[in-house]
Amino acid sequence: MEKDHRILENLSRLQENRLEFVTHSPEETIELGEYLARRLPRPCLVILQGDLGSGKTTLVKGIVAGLGVARPEEVTSPSFTLVHEYGQDDKVYHADLYRIEGVREQATLGLEELLEQDAMVIVEWGEKLIDLEAGVQIRIRMELLDGEDRRITIEGLGD
Ligand SMILES: Nc1ncnc2c1ncn2[C@@H]1O[C@H](COP(=O)(O)OP(=O)(O)O)[C@@H](O)[C@H]1O
Ligand SMILES: [Mg+2]
Repeated sequence: MEKDHRILENLSRLQENRLEFVTHSPEETIELGEYLARRLPRPCLVILQGDLGSGKTTLVKGIVAGLGVARPEEVTSPSFTLVHEYGQDDKVYHADLYRIEGVREQATLGLEELLEQDAMVIVEWGEKLIDLEAGVQIRIRMELLDGEDRRITIEGLGD
């Protein structure tokens, strides 16, 4: 696929269990999300890390669009609602821990139960996650570089 080809051109480094990309626009980050979406297993916990504006929500737009469960413009930051749900049979849950503090508040999100349903669970500010039982976990780190450049590092945390 032509898109896949462009994504792989942006692959700047590949080390063991780690892939590193640099994207140059929000559109490219969405494309990367679409590309990833087709390759992630279920259930799967996707931990998104990175500063405000680094592109976490933008990447989720791509993942959700790539799975065909919603259009990118339907994906917004769940900072106030805490968890967004997309899809019918193929469920994707999108959470944001920005305002969540501690294991008790985290428990109110019910992320463990969602993973038990074989869903994909994507968590922004995932570095705040505490002791979440999950099978396959992917950690994606997003960094702001110059202008519209973003470094996106993807690591499988395994089982
Ligand atoms: N390469 C890029 N990837 C992702 N977003 C980008 C990129 N370049 C510019 N942007 C802009 O940066 C902002 C990222 O916002 P958002 O995805 O909400 O970040 P976060 O969820 O990490 O706070 C958006 O305004 C987006 O248009
Ligand atoms: Mg966000």
